[in-house]
Amino acid sequence: MPTGQLMPEHRLIERMRALLKRELSRIQETSKADQRFIEIAIDFFRVYTDFCHRGKEEHVLFGELEAWPPFPEHRAMMGELIQEHAFALEVVKGLLEAKERYGWGSSEALADIIRAMNTLSAFYPAHIEKEDKHFPPTDPPTKGISIDYSMFACIVPALMVLYPRHSLIAVLVNNLCRAP
Ligand SMILES: [Fe+2]
Ligand SMILES: [Fe+2]
Repeated sequence: MPTGQLMPEHRLIERMRALLKRELSRIQETSKADQRFIEIAIDFFRVYTDFCHRGKEEHVLFGELEAWPPFPEHRAMMGELIQEHAFALEVVKGLLEAKERYGWGSSEALADIIRAMNTLSAFYPAHIEKEDKHFPPTDPPTKGISIDYSMFACIVPALMVLYPRHSLIAVLVNNLCRAP
């Protein structure tokens, strides 16, 4: 169902997830974390994935469905997705705390970094598949819903403020994917 800007944004989140997997293999080989990479990943998940992308999903897409109004099944899945968004943000917060502790020399921080990165790379494929392929549920059928995706940028004014940074983050992640 999500089309317009949401699908390409999911593809970029998948690229960041591939970078996480690559960094996890590197950490396993070296037993060292790259704090700069973790900062970029945290910025990506907080600004691009949470604030901008989740903002469009929860404020625009879910808002349009609420106005439709949705079936209880739609509302239930919206609730699940909102909980999943909050879960991902908590994991990112844990990754940030672990990175700070790693910087101060904590001996347990590396294991916490690995755990958080593993959790994020396991979480996103299932979350994205749910949104791309199963939302809103087709039973009962959603025929008749029309969502104006062009409203994304103007409906959430805060997105407009962050949009230049959002675009820069996308360029950065694409460049990192091309790096060896
Ligand atoms: Fe989402
Ligand atoms: Fe999404």
